[in-house]
Amino acid sequence: MMYPSIIPAPSKVALLGGMLIGKLDVVKETVPDMGKEAYEITIKDKITVKASTDAGFYYADITLEQLFQQYGDCIPCMIIEDEPRYAYRAFMIDCCRHFFKVADIKKMIDLCASFKFNKFHWHLSEDQGWRIEIEKYPQLTEIGSVRHGSYFGKEISDEDYGGYYTKADMKEIVDYAARHFIEVIPEIDIPGHSSGILAAMPELTCSGNKVEVKTTAGIFWDLLCAGNENSYKVIFDIIDELCDIFPGEYFHIGGDEVPKLQWTSCKKCQAKMKELGYDNEEQLQGYFVNRVSDYLRSRGKTVISWNESLKGGNLSSENVIQLWMDKDNLCKKSPNRIIISDFYHYYMDYPYEMTPLKKVYNYDDKVNGKVIGVETPIWCEYVSDIDRMIYMCFPRFIAVAQNGWSKRKPAYETFEKDLINIMKMYDTTEWAQRDVWNRPLLIRNVKTAFRFIGTLNREFADKLLDDRKKRKKLNEYYKNKK
Ligand code: ACM
Ligand code: ZN
Repeated sequence: MMYPSIIPAPSKVALLGGMLIGKLDVVKETVPDMGKEAYEITIKDKITVKASTDAGFYYADITLEQLFQQYGDCIPCMIIEDEPRYAYRAFMIDCCRHFFKVADIKKMIDLCASFKFNKFHWHLSEDQGWRIEIEKYPQLTEIGSVRHGSYFGKEISDEDYGGYYTKADMKEIVDYAARHFIEVIPEIDIPGHSSGILAAMPELTCSGNKVEVKTTAGIFWDLLCAGNENSYKVIFDIIDELCDIFPGEYFHIGGDEVPKLQWTSCKKCQAKMKELGYDNEEQLQGYFVNRVSDYLRSRGKTVISWNESLKGGNLSSENVIQLWMDKDNLCKKSPNRIIISDFYHYYMDYPYEMTPLKKVYNYDDKVNGKVIGVETPIWCEYVSDIDRMIYMCFPRFIAVAQNGWSKRKPAYETFEKDLINIMKMYDTTEWAQRDVWNRPLLIRNVKTAFRFIGTLNREFADKLLDDRKKRKKLNEYYKNKK
């Protein structure tokens, strides 16, 4: 008899022998002392499902759907015991480099929920666009949500590009996700990656100079001034409005890729450092993150930030760290809880040639005992429509779902066989098909090289040259300080 394909793999599947024929009604039994997301399915003379919460019953339904699809109305008798490995199982969508309609987001939620993801990290602010309606500051969307051109690799356009989510849109997504037992985690990325805010409010930069919403990919030098009280006031006002829309436990405040050249020559930032007794700008970022995090905690939130916020050595141990690129191993050394989003394994904006399905699946994500979960991002510089997003994410997202949910890890070959079975439940027209998942190394290397060359254009090359000069200046500053 065909062993059942279930993804993510349940903790335990025990075949009992015999078949249940025709009687597919489900008897539900609430068992209060079971885990929050755990469930148990018994298929014998009838189908019985035990769980303690609606989420548990929901996950049991998903598993049963996979069984019904494989066996029709003649199911092998079995007992399934299942509960997640991690409480935090997230996917992230960048809606800033390209804007995605509410219907597109719902499509992603549908797909992700069916593999038992339970968090949607919504990246809503960036250098290339601010995407959130804020009543108190309408200029954020009037100015900050529109960029004057798009130069992302082969996409070259002088046209204005924009879009933002109204409060009604965001509530619609939050409610839709909640019906799928998914919490929506908003991210405002500060103090770097914030040209969208700064284009609308140049008074929050260190210099007060005009800032453009950016039109290329990359890391930019415009920062919120950490020595200006108004930066905090505006951020707290934005948080107030967002907390009314997003009722969940978590809130993300970014903090990645913050090149601090502007802070080094800003009177206000330097005065703040002096007042706090700091001798480097990384500590100032730690202060900035702590101050915003304290405010969020006063609103009942658990705060997540990217791993760069550990660099100053003064981050509150209450913050949760999202590990994406941690060459100095700061996450291992810190007491903070960790979410694993390793760049080389879980970033789905990179081609299958660079990050094949098997590599995602086989990733050993055990940094240490403080890991609370996994998250897979899709950054969208080079993803401009939902079909491309689905191609990049599926089936690789499913390998991350497996790593986040399953306490047991079947061999990759078993996962692939199960995946091919499960894919029959979906219209997989847009998905990457099997020949793409794990190409041989030589083809992978050639295709990866071409893909990276394809991301270059004149505007981006100019930016890289300018970056070199600024990096040199920043390095000299640190050298002189020593
Ligand atoms: C990141 O990829 N900059 C978090
Ligand atoms: Zn400043």
